Amino acid sequence: MDKRTVRDVEVEGKRVLVRVDFNVPLDAKTGRITSDSRIRAALSTIEYLVKHKAKVILCSHLGRPGGKVVEGLRMRPVAQRLSKLIGLPVLIVPDCIGAEVENVVDRLNEGDILVLENLRFHAEEEANDSSFAQSLAKLADIHVNDAFGVAHRAHASTVGVSRYLPSVAGLLLEKELKALGGILSNPGHPFAALLGGAKVSDKINLIQNIMDKVDLLLIGGGMAATFLKVQGYEVGFSLVESDKQTLAKQLVQTAQQDGVSLHLPLDVMVAESMNTQAVGEIVSIGGIPPDKYIVDIGPRTIESFCRELVRCRTVFWNGPMGVYEISQFAKGTKAMVEVMATLKATTIVGGGSTAEIVEDMNMTDKMTHVSTGGGASLAFLEGKSLPGVEALLDK
Ligand code: 3PG
Repeated sequence: MDKRTVRDVEVEGKRVLVRVDFNVPLDAKTGRITSDSRIRAALSTIEYLVKHKAKVILCSHLGRPGGKVVEGLRMRPVAQRLSKLIGLPVLIVPDCIGAEVENVVDRLNEGDILVLENLRFHAEEEANDSSFAQSLAKLADIHVNDAFGVAHRAHASTVGVSRYLPSVAGLLLEKELKALGGILSNPGHPFAALLGGAKVSDKINLIQNIMDKVDLLLIGGGMAATFLKVQGYEVGFSLVESDKQTLAKQLVQTAQQDGVSLHLPLDVMVAESMNTQAVGEIVSIGGIPPDKYIVDIGPRTIESFCRELVRCRTVFWNGPMGVYEISQFAKGTKAMVEVMATLKATTIVGGGSTAEIVEDMNMTDKMTHVSTGGGASLAFLEGKSLPGVEALLDK
């Protein structure tokens, strides 16, 4: 990596402001944290800083409070969970800038950990306001960006602050860039991209950017409908993005020209509706009824995708194969997690919902890397530069 990391700077006795991505999912009714994987992912940097006697000041957003205080989005439960996971006391403050916060920071000892209040309670965070960034910078001597999940956002805590403090990468950010960068720069072949999710528009830029790197492209999920449609198949009520049909056609042609083996579903599960009572029926892609939705890939497709994946040396996966939130439509997605877990290959899972599925099935440890960033991993693999990474000091 061409950026400096926390290992390249002297942190002992220094106040270190660490931008983490503690944007954890919360239960809508109870407000409880439903997955602490993002907190666990940040532990290596925090432990490193504690071990090297820094004064650790953690800052993050939680949810999208839109620039005002939302009681249900306070950082206290996150700080408590961090304390439990790291086995150390964690201090909290009721804001992320201002005199009261500065007083607490002044009294920090080496190895102390402080969690600031939700950055997005201030609209200035997302606006990348320079005086807000300066107020954050005032709290510290060094800025560490470890929030890969927000690296595609140019906010005060990811970009603005680096105008006032030396900024380096945290260990999670470094790990993410190495894992995702590796599949762009030096993937083992055969290299497959397994893509799903609802919309083709979300993945077009990604497909375009990796087309000359992959050997196989396996497409399932809702987005397969647009590809099936341009090949002349009936896709029923499934979402077809009409404005993306030409692009989908071009991608099929490019795949042919570049020698990329493109695999679309051979059969699918269809249902009359997408609710928990709906009953699925397996049909071949030539027999999709005009009044039904595609809700999952079918058993022949699962078999053929698995057959292709087992011969690969690198697999990147992003996007569910069906409406996995409804258990009877989750078979295809679950089968992909299961096969990925057994592969003797470098297996990289994009963040967001795909990462959540892998985690729900307790298979995270079976993958080479599960990204903590949904939008950020997509942006990176689309070839976009990430402002939160660009802002860091070069090696
Ligand atoms: C995420 O959950 O992908 C990151 O924390 C970024 O959150 P945002 O999309 O609200 O900026």
